[in-house]
Amino acid sequence: MNKIVAIDGPAGSGKGTITQIIADKCHLVNIDTGATYRCVALAALRHGLTLDDKEAIIDLSSKINITFDETGHVFLDGEDVSEEIRGKEVTTFVSPVSSIVEVRTNMVALQRQMALGHDVIMEGRDITTVVFPNAQYKFYLDASLEERAKRRYAQNQEKGIEMSYEEVLDNIKKRDYNDMHKEVGSLIRTDDAIYIDTTNMTIDEVANKMINIIEGD
Ligand code: DC
Repeated sequence: MNKIVAIDGPAGSGKGTITQIIADKCHLVNIDTGATYRCVALAALRHGLTLDDKEAIIDLSSKINITFDETGHVFLDGEDVSEEIRGKEVTTFVSPVSSIVEVRTNMVALQRQMALGHDVIMEGRDITTVVFPNAQYKFYLDASLEERAKRRYAQNQEKGIEMSYEEVLDNIKKRDYNDMHKEVGSLIRTDDAIYIDTTNMTIDEVANKMINIIEGD
């Protein structure tokens, strides 16, 4: 059976960075499920759609082609959109888009299909609960709201994304609310997922702790 490491947690909990480190060290395929929702949001924006065009967004989510390469770059219909999907516009639009039940059905099917035949590490909001509830390794990463906003602000600065700390904090608060109040696929901390509070831990400390668990048996 293929190895599946499932990770959930709120925005800014360190999931993305830590998942890539573990993927490299443990030779696992990294499937960034948030990026799949971001691609749907980007495609919808490019088609000039708004949240009033729910049916058109659902239709688009079943037609677009989303792929990853081995370095973690994301392609929408063959075009590398890795940077564009992290921009402000997509970041604001993606949360409500990811709340559309039918969009989730399409993305969950795609994510499961991407995992077929590979040893994978997958991070998102509903991986331990919906996508792979029977994964061998399940983690829930967390950190305080302020710490998460601080991290995301620093990441944005590095990437040249113009957003004030207050804007980032506000965005994360709204996303937390949306992520935890979805009709389907809400972010839920379950008892069988290993809980790690990363607030006062370095990235390497968290990654090493998880690698010890994954490779410990
Ligand atoms: O992890 P991220 O910030 O790239 O996620 C982008 C959005 O997609 C975020 O609003 C939460 C949502 N998401 C989701 O609903 N389910 C997932 N498995 C992953 C992300």
